[in-house]
Amino acid sequence: MATFCVPGRIETGFGSMSQVGELLQTLGGNNALIIMDSFLAQIGLNKKIETILAEAGMGFAVYSGVAGEPTSDHVAAGVEIAARSQCDCVLAVGGGSSIDTAKAIAVKIPNPNLAFGDIAKQQYLKRLPLIAVPTTAGTGSEATKVSVITNAKTGIKENPGHPAIVPDIAVLDPELMMTLPSGLTAFTGMDALTHAMEAYVSNKANKMSDLYAYEAIKMVGGALEKAVEGGLNREARQRMAIASCFAGIAFSNSSTNLAHAGGRALGAYFHIPHGLSVALLLPFVMEFGLEAAEERYAQVAIALGANPHDGRKELARKAVAIVYDYNDRFKVWTEAKEKFITDLDAFAAAIPEMVKNALAGNGILTNPIVPTEQDVTAVFQKLAKKIATV
Ligand SMILES: NC(=O)c1ccc[n+]([C@@H]2O[C@H](COP(=O)([O-])OP(=O)(O)OC[C@H]3O[C@@H](n4cnc5c(N)ncnc54)[C@H](O)[C@@H]3O)[C@@H](O)[C@H]2O)c1
Ligand SMILES: [Zn+2]
Repeated sequence: MATFCVPGRIETGFGSMSQVGELLQTLGGNNALIIMDSFLAQIGLNKKIETILAEAGMGFAVYSGVAGEPTSDHVAAGVEIAARSQCDCVLAVGGGSSIDTAKAIAVKIPNPNLAFGDIAKQQYLKRLPLIAVPTTAGTGSEATKVSVITNAKTGIKENPGHPAIVPDIAVLDPELMMTLPSGLTAFTGMDALTHAMEAYVSNKANKMSDLYAYEAIKMVGGALEKAVEGGLNREARQRMAIASCFAGIAFSNSSTNLAHAGGRALGAYFHIPHGLSVALLLPFVMEFGLEAAEERYAQVAIALGANPHDGRKELARKAVAIVYDYNDRFKVWTEAKEKFITDLDAFAAAIPEMVKNALAGNGILTNPIVPTEQDVTAVFQKLAKKIATV
């Protein structure tokens, strides 16, 4: 048995954002809470959205307080603005941080007493109408049933999933992604690749998730480097926007695995942005599960351009080599060493806690081999060794 959830409608193409006012109205919305992060508001994106909504005759309020990855405090602040302005729908424009905040707010308003962590347990979950417009490619959050919010009290990243969290409409407008600098393009793109790969090798993978996962891997393989090297390459941006959404659909209906379970812990301890933290772990997680998912990893290598006539074992190893190579070329290792993992002793000391944290989260039981404490420790140690040599 498998359940498959996708947004009710997906709009794509350059300029598609101009329809968001009418789209909110199709959902019965008249007065939107616009959620966006402080940087995007600073570069004037909120003014563009406000004009689009005003032209459609919509009322709106703006919450642009998200800076960095979101916490429960951001959600509370957004809920307050929505209540004060009596908003009846939510529009997220931004990366995964803004979209996840919007998802949590859209659920919190009609369920004021529901704890965030209890969302997944609800059989029926009410939420405000919600449109997500991603500006990174990316998390795929515009198409997933997950919202990732750090509990401001415990510091733990919670990521409950519920089919009702999938946005009603996703709008994939690559124009919005043209301003993404090359580093962020690379790291968020590696997040999309990790989603697609983990969904594809997950032991929850199914025919429908495979379709999106495999296509996403191929599309990222063909477009990510072009988008990183030429931010104004419209075709590459368009392909990455779709690939990221496909990868989101794939993992939302299959799962992510150890690169995400470990990446959440790594990100929380060393304040590493999400895409970078999962990219850092991905090659070691692949190596760990290589034999168990050899055929799948061989197919991944083919999707990323390897010679399909090579043997299965060789191809599977090639998949790992390709990801290592992406991490070299996209400066994943050096960025981590220079900005985040600056003290290798502190990193070694944090491994036991990160392992505990990783094992407590989602993505462990779905890994091709379910890892033990020792296995996860070994993955973190391999990363430490790699960083030491950079
Ligand atoms: N809900 C899900 O399904 C899901 C999946 C994966 C990750 N996540 C979560 O999403 C968050 C990360 O999201 P993200 O990687 O998209 O990054 P983000 O939303 O945190 O944004 C990263 C940075 O990029 C900037 N930015 C965004 N779009 C830009 C643009 N077009 N031009 C210039 N700058 C731009 C932002 O201002 C910010 O400074 C994490 O909290 C992660 O855990 C959620
Ligand atoms: Zn991710």
